[in-house]
Amino acid sequence: MKITFYGQNSLSIEVSGKNIIVDPFISGNPLSKDKVDIVSLKADYILLTHAHEDHILDAEAIAKNTNAKIVSNYEIAMYYQAKGFDVHPMNHGGNWKFDFGNLKFVNAVHTSSFPDGSYGGQPGGFVIEGEHKNIYIAGDTALTMDMKLIPLQTKLDLAILPIGDNFTMGIDDAILASNFLECEKILGVHYDTFGFIEINHEEAKKKFFDAEKDLILLDIGSSLEL
Ligand code: NI
Ligand code: MN
Repeated sequence: MKITFYGQNSLSIEVSGKNIIVDPFISGNPLSKDKVDIVSLKADYILLTHAHEDHILDAEAIAKNTNAKIVSNYEIAMYYQAKGFDVHPMNHGGNWKFDFGNLKFVNAVHTSSFPDGSYGGQPGGFVIEGEHKNIYIAGDTALTMDMKLIPLQTKLDLAILPIGDNFTMGIDDAILASNFLECEKILGVHYDTFGFIEINHEEAKKKFFDAEKDLILLDIGSSLEL
């Protein structure tokens, strides 16, 4: 499994020969827009955790280019289906076996309106059980006891957690989350994009290190392999 970071919560995941884009927000991200060309992105699926603009901005453009299937909560899926896109609706607690592995839509504590204020359903996260590795994409969320449910069923190899604070968990809560998740390896996301979520990278890494966790912060466009 190869995971590439495009800033904020935007990722691409290559697994079992399929390409998954998560929460594409690139053309509007001052940190990414000159580094990542959305036309070049490959996608068989686009996973959307919730309807906020910093998670869906480029979903339509990428879906048009690639004919990717948009996978999200019921309300977001219906929003894109009405515009003619191929979708797969899910809801909390639900699993579906895709050709890249098992996907579960799990709880997140956040909000989910579209940029025009219309209802975007409830926010969520995703657990992907891939060919050899399992990952959790928290999406935007607070620390929540529901995270303790995930390792009851899935041994995680990586947790992708927001660490920017203000709108989501900050560093201290993300360390507690990684304990709840029983996961030692964390990819930090949702930081530095705007003033409210700027973090000190060295301080963040040291806090995770002191808690015997490994925090990975990727440069935009760079990847990790699991
Ligand atoms: Ni959000
Ligand atoms: Mn966000």
